Amino acid sequence: MQKKYYLLAPGPTPIPPNVLGAMAEPIIHHRAPVFVKVLEEIRERLKYLFQTKNEVLMFASTGTGAMEGSVTNTLCKGDKALVIRGGKFGERWAEICEAYGVVPKCIDVTWGEAVDPRVIQEELENDPDIRAVFIQASETSTGVVYPIKKIAEIVRKFDNTIFVVDAISGVGVFELPFDKWDIDVLVGGSQKSLMLPPGLAFAALSDKAWSFVERSDIPKYYFNFKKELKSLKDNQTAWTSAVSLVMGLNESLKMIQAEGLDNVFKRHTRLAEATRAGARALGLELFAPNNPSNSVTAIKAPDGIDGQKIVKILRDKHNITIAGGQSQAKGKIFRVAHLGYVDTYDIIIVISALEMTLRELGYEVELGKGVKAAVEILEKDI
Ligand SMILES: Cc1ncc(COP(=O)(O)O)c(C=O)c1O
Repeated sequence: MQKKYYLLAPGPTPIPPNVLGAMAEPIIHHRAPVFVKVLEEIRERLKYLFQTKNEVLMFASTGTGAMEGSVTNTLCKGDKALVIRGGKFGERWAEICEAYGVVPKCIDVTWGEAVDPRVIQEELENDPDIRAVFIQASETSTGVVYPIKKIAEIVRKFDNTIFVVDAISGVGVFELPFDKWDIDVLVGGSQKSLMLPPGLAFAALSDKAWSFVERSDIPKYYFNFKKELKSLKDNQTAWTSAVSLVMGLNESLKMIQAEGLDNVFKRHTRLAEATRAGARALGLELFAPNNPSNSVTAIKAPDGIDGQKIVKILRDKHNITIAGGQSQAKGKIFRVAHLGYVDTYDIIIVISALEMTLRELGYEVELGKGVKAAVEILEKDI
């Protein structure tokens, strides 16, 4: 018989049946009144998710599209930008800046660690020409969560600098109140906590960021934030909407609102804590022990065992998809995600399969030890 499939990668993530159902409905026209009504609802629901009174722009692209748009719509050629580079996605900010003639000044952070906000303060004080600070909320490649609130408090003091946060694996996972914390640009993507396929990207902009949009001189066409905002105010998207994804989005946002953001954050915390406890009970070390993200747990492969083999056995033998390490972390870590439509039993299953996989690779494991540690956390709030 075909094995049941478990998707525990940090994107794409599993999709609930009602969201799949909404996306399977016959397609409607993107300018039809019924669709315009859906977009009107979504506008408000996205504001709830991003915790902002401002509009949240939506694009038919993966998250990187909105990252790119955040650079091209807010900055000018030759501007300097501070980039926190502690993983693959920090690298991406620097690459996008370079592609558009923005000069990235990188703060290199050891993979698995978080940036010290004081370093950012010093850089901003020493160089008044820095126009933007680019960071991830959760660096998915290392499983680190960065201290966004503290950094926002610093950047807000610099009138000529905006704070741009890639929260593709953060929004809808943990607290990131856009207005309250004075974040200037917050980027999201559909295939993470939103429980949708890849293909939608989001960006919220503060009034300060919108004033930067006015002075930006970098060429742009598809990702034109002003054009998109104008359309959004008429409950439209500038270009053809990704109709089916948008129908699914309305459904997933309804679910998030019904649950309540605080409960959504608690759900992610609980699953993350159980995963970390399970790994530790097996004698495994976390890659980011001091600042672990609640979206994905990066675990060090035991000495002498190739992390890629763990990923492969889980995939080929157990039909469970997790993620391996990327670049410098390849083979050294593996990553179990717990964001979006993931529940108690998914975590129990992945820890149990991990125990079997480690045994197969010659690492001594007492069967059930990781599961027990995870369940001890999970059972408190079934
Ligand atoms: C933190 C972060 N930034 C950016 C991206 C890139 O998003 P996408 O692949 O949707 O373009 C991802 C996707 O894994 C991510 O986790």
